[in-house]
Amino acid sequence: MLDQLTALQTEALAALEAAHDEAAVEAARVAFLGKKGSLTLLSAGMKDVPGDQKKAVGAKLNEVRTAITSAIDAKTLALQSAKDAASVAGIDITLPGRPGLGTGTLHPLTKIRDLAVQTLRRMGFALADGPEVETEWHCFDALNTPADHPARNEKDTFYLADGRLLRTHTSSVQIRTMETVKALPIRIMAPGAAYRRDEIDATHLSVFNQLEGLYVDRHVSLADLKGTLEFFFREIFGPKTVVRFRPHFFPFTEPSFEIDIKLEAKGKDARWIEIAGCGMVDPAVFAEVGKKRGDSLLDPDHVTGFAFGLGLDRLAMILHGITDIRHLIENDVRFLAQF
Ligand code: DAH
Repeated sequence: MLDQLTALQTEALAALEAAHDEAAVEAARVAFLGKKGSLTLLSAGMKDVPGDQKKAVGAKLNEVRTAITSAIDAKTLALQSAKDAASVAGIDITLPGRPGLGTGTLHPLTKIRDLAVQTLRRMGFALADGPEVETEWHCFDALNTPADHPARNEKDTFYLADGRLLRTHTSSVQIRTMETVKALPIRIMAPGAAYRRDEIDATHLSVFNQLEGLYVDRHVSLADLKGTLEFFFREIFGPKTVVRFRPHFFPFTEPSFEIDIKLEAKGKDARWIEIAGCGMVDPAVFAEVGKKRGDSLLDPDHVTGFAFGLGLDRLAMILHGITDIRHLIENDVRFLAQF
């Protein structure tokens, strides 16, 4: 039986050596290891082997089965590798790839936000943020906006059932920052979404993007406000941009201004276009936040500050001559690919 097994192994390995395709390997497997294969038949003879030889024969049987199985695996692998090599033969893998869909570009809103943030960062403003679902106190009361102010109307503001609201402006981040800051100066910028129940048209969306700024310290003056924002808008619209501060009213600043820039298009009369609101932080705001803090860091007798807020969508529209704000959210590649 031992001799028979040795002979069988030799025969099987030779057959596998000679196999040149997967079908031949499979045929060899069936012939030797299959249900009616020679090794299987031979192992059925185990029961007739005398007791004292059973151990040796059993060991040999396993050895032969292992040898054949490994030979099958090795041959299968070798055939597969040869097939893989053949399928890429003739392909020059050093050739550059072909461009497929092409790379995308940043959204115009992302670009304007990044530019605004970089510009303000150079002047020492740090990023800040706050929740979009806000309390009435952070969005209105602390910003010196009385309960009967039209902005607080159900018609203009999205209220939640629990009395909170979707912030109508990023000015709430001024309050969030002043509430928690540990020391002066405060110099923050807060880009983010704002929500209003506006009728949607070419210049209005119910969700839009603002950028808020706040600088609080001892001795912050209107000259700081003017210098900072003139520099800012010249960085965005070009060094020759003419900036105008027009007196206005906001509940949370005193004095308050709207900022206009002069747009001069070739062959057209120059026109002023409103781009931001700003002003000196109203002492009533410091007082209200100070009450909540319970300390004197923001004592209105000692600190002053300026704030500003602008619409990023509007900035992008002016910069690129976009006439319909809805283009900014439709994600039509024919529109986006222009930037
Ligand atoms: N929050 C105002 C708005 O949404 C914009 C604004 C005006 C922000 C004056 C300010 C500011 O910080 O000082 O219309």
